[in-house]
Amino acid sequence: MNLATDTSSAIAARLRSAGCVYAEDEVRLLVSQAGTPADLAAMFDRRVAGLPLEHVLGWAEFCGMRIAVAPGVFVPRPHTEFLVRQAAALAPPRAVVLDLCCGSGALGVALAAALDGPELHAADVDPAAVRCARRNVAALGHVYEGDLYEPLPAQLRGRVDVLLANAPYVPTGSIDLMPREARDHEPLVALDGGADGLDVLRRVAAGAPLWLAPGGHLLVETSERQAQHAVETVAAHGLIPWVARSDEMHAAAVVARRPDTVRADVR
Ligand SMILES: C[S@@+](CC[C@H](N)C(=O)[O-])C[C@H]1O[C@@H](n2cnc3c(N)ncnc32)[C@H](O)[C@@H]1O
Repeated sequence: MNLATDTSSAIAARLRSAGCVYAEDEVRLLVSQAGTPADLAAMFDRRVAGLPLEHVLGWAEFCGMRIAVAPGVFVPRPHTEFLVRQAAALAPPRAVVLDLCCGSGALGVALAAALDGPELHAADVDPAAVRCARRNVAALGHVYEGDLYEPLPAQLRGRVDVLLANAPYVPTGSIDLMPREARDHEPLVALDGGADGLDVLRRVAAGAPLWLAPGGHLLVETSERQAQHAVETVAAHGLIPWVARSDEMHAAAVVARRPDTVRADVR
């Protein structure tokens, strides 16, 4: 195959036979991104070898924005836009936003773009994700590296109006059922939520009352199967939870409000 002379439809046919379902769209994106035929050939080869399209392009579209995604960093999923929409509807003016388990930083960046004068903080444990998030967040806010709340500045305690956490929630036993692209090219730390998928969420929920402002909200993505268990987990820490769903976007989220006072024993 010669990418300099082949037609788009021939290139698309080759991508389709490599398993790319939206081959025509992908060709359009690859051609528009490639500076030279050599670039295009290199990108095509990476895609045929199974690299996610977003890693080949170097960006993912999320909430109508281009978010940089580096190899080895979780690709933000379209259904996660639902979490951002829920958060935008709950955020007060000049909201303090915390994007925990931020990956590329897509959620925080998209939410900040929808708000008036937000203060954005984001954190992730994976250095590759933190580097990528720093590119996306840039002057919009601060990105910290470390385990959940551990790297955050103490002055954020009790001030967070919106705490977004798209933490890993795939049960360990289901990782093998995930699409190959995810298993091979996204790190386990971004996917594996432990035996029932809720290990990280349990720790996020335990810390949330300390960091949320009174009346602030925690929003976490969940699967339909885990939703009830996730609600109970969050409620056990004194928050007032409910489940938000979108059939159209195939998305579910647990949203929880911090009441004005939280019992000392659950903080
Ligand atoms: C499912 S990905 C979501 C990334 C991003 N929020 C998004 O939706 O595109 C989960 C992210 O959580 C991070 N993570 C996993 N365990 C963590 C921990 N203990 N502390 C901080 N981040 C963690 C991973 O590195 C990964 O970037």
